[in-house]
Amino acid sequence: MKTYEKKSGFLGVLSIAASLAMAAGIAATGPVSAHAMLPLAGAGASIQTPAQTARIAGTRLKTTSDAKLRAKGSNKAKVLLRIPKGTVLKSTQAPKSGWYKIAYKDKAGYVSSKSVKLMPKKPTDTSKPTLQAPARYELGFIVNKDHKLSSSYKPALKTIPGTSKQLTPEAVTAFSKMRKAAKKDGISLTAVSGYRSYARQKELFASYSRKLGAKEADRVSARPGTSEHQTGLAIDVGAANGRCVISKCFADTREGKWVAKYSYKYGFIMRYPKGTEKYTGYDFEPWHYRYVGTAIAKDMKNKKIKTLERYYTR
Ligand code: DAL
Ligand code: ZN
Repeated sequence: MKTYEKKSGFLGVLSIAASLAMAAGIAATGPVSAHAMLPLAGAGASIQTPAQTARIAGTRLKTTSDAKLRAKGSNKAKVLLRIPKGTVLKSTQAPKSGWYKIAYKDKAGYVSSKSVKLMPKKPTDTSKPTLQAPARYELGFIVNKDHKLSSSYKPALKTIPGTSKQLTPEAVTAFSKMRKAAKKDGISLTAVSGYRSYARQKELFASYSRKLGAKEADRVSARPGTSEHQTGLAIDVGAANGRCVISKCFADTREGKWVAKYSYKYGFIMRYPKGTEKYTGYDFEPWHYRYVGTAIAKDMKNKKIKTLERYYTR
């Protein structure tokens, strides 16, 4: 895991994959799942948008109108069955050109994405870590309600200069660069939160749960093992003047606007943008940024994709 500290292209990638795989209690080189067959992002192949990820396998859909199960993903293909409006389906695969592959009754076929909507996520099963293949997508790996880190996972950390918060060394370098650029524009940024341990996240979620009830807590706080803060790649950005700290109004501050506009240049994405709860499982958090590296951040911006969930499932 030492190589993780070196920002060394392919080796770094492998070691992240290895350390996360270990964290998830699986052998990085072993046949962990079908997803392990997906391409490794490495030297010369910085962007991989796999057609299938663990996240999408098992995505729940609901038909919004009477739908047709077709033999192929085309309006001209044979209709195998009719699916009534309101039927809950499970997709085994990301939609390809607007078609989801599904099984209904005893038939496998395709349903148009126009006649279905994504179902809200089920509450997290906190019993076991599920983070497997996404660890292999270099910095863009997903930690969310479906991809969980083990309680022992802890990345190499470095303190962000001038704060008491920690991130991975690479994320600290990127944040420092971003903060310097902001300063030139007269914007003072700070880190309100960085790395959080599994134990700390457990306390936090319990506290939100007591205050709001589990259902609301699930919209604003991650259950232990499912927080990006445990990766050391997530930072809650604040204005140095303390205005609108961890509040939605941060989006309207000069600082919040600056970060939203320029963060991609430094490899950060706003992880829970407005209107994306159905994909991320979380309410709008204009302060929570995730370091994914500049290649992925720029690619997402170019493709106008707002969330990692969508990025890996298109
Ligand atoms: N507030 C974000 C979702 C977290 O707890 O990680
Ligand atoms: Zn956060």
